[in-house]
Amino acid sequence: MAEPLVTATNVKKSFQHMGRTLEVLRGIDLTIDTGEMLSIVGQSGAGKSTLLHCIGTLDVVTSGSLKLAGEELTALPSRRLADLRNRTIGFVFQFHHLLPEFTALENVVMPGLIQGRPRKELEARAQSLLEEVGLKERVKHRPGELSGGEQQRVALARALALGPKLLLADEPTGNLDSRTSDQIHQLFFHINELHKTTIVIVTHNPALAASMPRVVTLRDGRVEKDERRDVAQYRKAAMPTGAEEPTGKLDVG
Ligand SMILES: Nc1ncnc2c1ncn2[C@@H]1O[C@H](COP(=O)(O)OP(=O)(O)O)[C@@H](O)[C@H]1O
Ligand SMILES: [Mg+2]
Repeated sequence: MAEPLVTATNVKKSFQHMGRTLEVLRGIDLTIDTGEMLSIVGQSGAGKSTLLHCIGTLDVVTSGSLKLAGEELTALPSRRLADLRNRTIGFVFQFHHLLPEFTALENVVMPGLIQGRPRKELEARAQSLLEEVGLKERVKHRPGELSGGEQQRVALARALALGPKLLLADEPTGNLDSRTSDQIHQLFFHINELHKTTIVIVTHNPALAASMPRVVTLRDGRVEKDERRDVAQYRKAAMPTGAEEPTGKLDVG
């Protein structure tokens, strides 16, 4: 059997704050298989972002074991962690963090330029990704010339620029209206199906959580519930239609 993409075993994370130890993750056991799509829900402060940051190698756990793509993260020096992150992970946050001076296309090309990849190749891929997220007519726009939903689509395309195995999203629709949120949700499904990207979405959005095949509920730094269900029917009913529909196929990775 294939190895899971992420395996957390008794993961604990604490912060030192004002001279006190704050235990945020208190023994998380979680396995995420390659190609899975799941959401992490739970009250504010439950530890969702902290867990996502640890899985994404942006932060390190205090104890326990956390494996990503076969590598024990707790054993890797920061240089190797950064390599693994660049090779394996794409991030989408609540606020898009696009560079305001650059066009949509340039924003999507940027992670690859930083990695020293050839510009031509990167531009072709960025163009395809932007078309895929429904922004064919917006590639030359700067973030200030795009709507909130369009900005988040650019952020999504940028997250996919290096063909990540794992896409981590923290409240990706937290800042959008419900119709726009729904279109972004559909894009996540589309990406999961088309690229087989494993996707983990932290969300407060009940409609998004309800549409996911797996929902993990955190409570006080522990997994309270881990539910799976068949959502094939929902996905069929909710496939995007019309002008906003993502176009084309792209071979990233
Ligand atoms: N760098 C940090 N230093 C101190 N406390 C932190 C830090 N990051 C998060 N926390 C605390 O950890 C708890 C969980 O935070 P977080 O993972 O962001 O929760 P959630 O995303 O579920 O709302 C909160 O009480 C928060 O204040
Ligand atoms: Mg959070």
